[in-house]
Amino acid sequence: MIQVAIMGFGVVGSGVAKIIEENQALLAARLSDEITVKYILDIRDFTGHALAGRVVRDFSVIENDPEVSVVVEAMGGVHPAYDYSLKAIRAKKSVVTSNKELVSLHGRELLEEAKKNGVRYLFEASVGGGIPIIRPLSDCLAANEISSVTGIMNGTTNYILTQMEENGAPFADALSDAQARGFAERDPSADIDGKDTCRKLCILADIAFGYQVNPDLVTCEGIRAISPRDISDAAEAGYCIKLLGHVRRDSEGITPIVAPFLLSRTHILSGVSGVFNGIGVVGNMVGETMFYGHGAGSAPTASAMVGDIIEACEVPSSPVLWKEKAPEGYIKDVSECAFARYLRVKGTRADSLTVLAECAVRAVSNGDETGFFLPAMTDEELAVILKMIPELDVVSSIRIFTPGEFVPKNG
Ligand SMILES: NC(=O)c1ccc[n+]([C@@H]2O[C@H](COP(=O)([O-])OP(=O)(O)OC[C@H]3O[C@@H](n4cnc5c(N)ncnc54)[C@H](OP(=O)(O)O)[C@@H]3O)[C@@H](O)[C@H]2O)c1
Repeated sequence: MIQVAIMGFGVVGSGVAKIIEENQALLAARLSDEITVKYILDIRDFTGHALAGRVVRDFSVIENDPEVSVVVEAMGGVHPAYDYSLKAIRAKKSVVTSNKELVSLHGRELLEEAKKNGVRYLFEASVGGGIPIIRPLSDCLAANEISSVTGIMNGTTNYILTQMEENGAPFADALSDAQARGFAERDPSADIDGKDTCRKLCILADIAFGYQVNPDLVTCEGIRAISPRDISDAAEAGYCIKLLGHVRRDSEGITPIVAPFLLSRTHILSGVSGVFNGIGVVGNMVGETMFYGHGAGSAPTASAMVGDIIEACEVPSSPVLWKEKAPEGYIKDVSECAFARYLRVKGTRADSLTVLAECAVRAVSNGDETGFFLPAMTDEELAVILKMIPELDVVSSIRIFTPGEFVPKNG
């Protein structure tokens, strides 16, 4: 039995407990062992919560219990998170954290201490929430000289800038909206002044370039001064405005910056909207890579932390050995799925066009060809329609990707 202690039962810590509870069977299969949350360390006592009986106030209970092999640190802040993490490592427990402030300041030291004690210090969730970026950067891209890392790493500021762009909202209104929706904290300064992005950028720079980067030494500008006029002028010229963390390397060293930038609409990061994050890494062998997803939130962040727990338990992490024989019907026939479709036909025969026009949601004519945008239907349903039209010359038939529709029609 793998016994875990969670320090800090807030947004992230409770998410970790929920995943361990809800995905128990999946995790047991992956770990070849049962996993359970033995203790929860928090200031509050969570009366009435199903896990209230596991709450402790005294860290030494966790520290002195040899059955606890992994400690999840989701308290935030530097102290006492640093002190508890150090003690846990010295008590031969692996530590998994989402705390970018702590990792950006003391990550190197804690990694060294973990190595000395034969345990792991893992922090996948500290950058990009649920997006895998730490392990890809340190392992999968290890054959590369990294030349730059560029990212939208803060969902709060990206949401605010997206609102300003889409609704013409002033900064203050977009911030209030983000706070009302729970995307921004009551004191939003760490996000909007760029400090949160800066800590994450420093962690990525530490890994990519091999030297500790102190966040205090990085040029860091936030988005408080961005106005709707900045955004509309940028849009007219084909740009959006994004808060970027960027670091590039040359032969002498690195140049890091966190600031709002005008970004061409053709740049892939310009499509990263709302609370989403996107991080691009350029390596001299792999070229450009991009990591995209939920940069925060209980379940995405906890998902990265539970991935780290699995890693800490030293389960060979990649790839999982899949089974040879799937049960009957495991691979479904895609022809049973309904897809919306773009169908272009030649000819102007009114009778054929009428049949298609009647079921199309949109039609575009050009010369003697007409493109029809058909609603979701299976291949069989489409065949029935096409059979009704004699001598139809189909020039093009392309499925429209709408993820929600990509399920068996009767499923
Ligand atoms: N939320 C996200 O989406 C997200 C995403 C990525 C990374 N992170 C990082 O994850 C960490 C946790 O964030 P969170 O959003 O889960 O914070 P949170 O909701 O405020 O949870 C932190 C919990 O830790 C407790 N705590 C604080 N100090 C403690 C202490 N000394 N002893 C025991 N318990 C203590 C807090 O209790 P009180 O409430 O009573 O203070 C709270 O229950 C932070 O480092 C954050 O930057 C968060």
